[in-house]
Amino acid sequence: MDIDVVSSPIHETAADAILIFLYQNSPFNEALNTLDAALGGLLREVTEAGDLTGKSSDLLVLYPRGVIPAQRIIAVGLGEAEEITPDTIRRAAAQGIKKARDMKARTVTALLPDHPDVNTAAEALTEGTLLALYSYHGQKSKEKAQDLPEKLTLFVTSEQDIMAAQQGVKAGEAVAAGVKITRDLVNLPPNICTPAHMAQVAEEVAQEAGLKIEVLKKKQIEALGMGALLGVAQGSDDPPRFIILEHNADKAEALDTIVLVGKGVTFDTGGYSIKTTDGMVGMKADMAGGGAVIGAMRVIAALDVPLHVVGLIPAVDNMISGHAFRPQDVLKASNGITIEIISTDAEGRLILADALVFAARYKPAAVVDIATLTGACMVALGTAAGGLFSTDDTLRDALMQAAERTHEKIWPLPMFAEYDKLIESNTADIKNTGGRYGGASIAAVFLKHFVDYPAWAHIDMAGMAGIEGVSGSENPYVPAKGATGYGARLLADFVRHWK
Ligand code: BES
Ligand code: MN
Ligand code: ZN
Repeated sequence: MDIDVVSSPIHETAADAILIFLYQNSPFNEALNTLDAALGGLLREVTEAGDLTGKSSDLLVLYPRGVIPAQRIIAVGLGEAEEITPDTIRRAAAQGIKKARDMKARTVTALLPDHPDVNTAAEALTEGTLLALYSYHGQKSKEKAQDLPEKLTLFVTSEQDIMAAQQGVKAGEAVAAGVKITRDLVNLPPNICTPAHMAQVAEEVAQEAGLKIEVLKKKQIEALGMGALLGVAQGSDDPPRFIILEHNADKAEALDTIVLVGKGVTFDTGGYSIKTTDGMVGMKADMAGGGAVIGAMRVIAALDVPLHVVGLIPAVDNMISGHAFRPQDVLKASNGITIEIISTDAEGRLILADALVFAARYKPAAVVDIATLTGACMVALGTAAGGLFSTDDTLRDALMQAAERTHEKIWPLPMFAEYDKLIESNTADIKNTGGRYGGASIAAVFLKHFVDYPAWAHIDMAGMAGIEGVSGSENPYVPAKGATGYGARLLADFVRHWK
């Protein structure tokens, strides 16, 4: 979709639909007053009748019947002006554009809602619009994609606002393009989205966005001594990949480095600790953390964030065969730590272990990993938030703020010393599971053994990826079924705001 910014009276345009946004209990602003005057007081009339309230998620379609050239007006409520956040605008834009799409509008104009920061408002409106129009058709051989609005023209009140709005639109487009990459990867079936396929998509993203990329194959992974990752991978005929994306690689010396690590299990059968039939459906999304990192890196490159940012995606397939690893095998990670396998289904922490060790070579100011790691985290927080674990309060706060801005929620969970006791092994340095209770925290303290830098955070996003059988999102710019794209916006926003 093509998005422009102009400053002229919106009632003069011949769009298929005009989108307007209204605050509850607030007088119309100048732009709305001008539109209302052109409509002979229609807006005021429906407001006074109580049919147009401006309440959040209220939506009303009005027909000007030739009084102005536009075919219809879609009015969406924003709620109270004092409570406005970027997410309110994202949601309202999503609702409005979906209505326009369903009414087969091709050209849409929108009045930018009043907001103290034009740039932020334009970015939120663009994001909400583009994220809402995402659809995935998979391998359906007959169904045709729904026609979408082709053009959105954003109206701002004054000439001076055009530049700021254009910048916001550009940022919103970059963010939506990153999220689309994440959603597409997560939605793909596991026979298509193999580790090699993830690497190929990462190559395409790197080409397009100007990122440096290196993809390590099995031989190179062996040379690095990544025995934990290789143990998981060895049961599959699809060999592993270790994907390294880098933004500002040439300025690594001068800039602070942030490393993002994403779990890329392209399918998780559980291995010999096999999942149930129902437990296994949905496990194509077990690479959602890796997908989020690839999407975030696309955004970070497009917005040319002035930091050295590295994305690491260990990509493996957790399968069963005569070559597969077993419970009671002992694996040796690349930092020399030996791990007794209790459950082959606790595979995510194994591949992350080697990736977290690898991250140290960049001398990072901060490392953040994101993973669909434990059902326990889902039990704790449901589908409302990911779990957040951090060794550093500044990093934790920065991530919490990014979550607030993006509405990709996270919530702090502990890494008490008590959990460490639970992964003591009789035969190796540690074991990969620690009993029934506190599973999300146990996984986090396991990962901590592979962290050798001051600021590390771990995000357990098991409930957030949009896994089948786990309840879907009610958010109008997040698909109700299938991949949410969770994590890409959160990570990109965090990096954009890093001091
Ligand atoms: N990928 C799963 C976690 C998961 C489960 C994500 C459901 C999303 C939805 C992970 O690899 C796993 O199997 N974890 C085990 C760990 C256990 C064996 C300690 C779990 O949570 O049951
Ligand atoms: Mn598993
Ligand atoms: Zn898994």
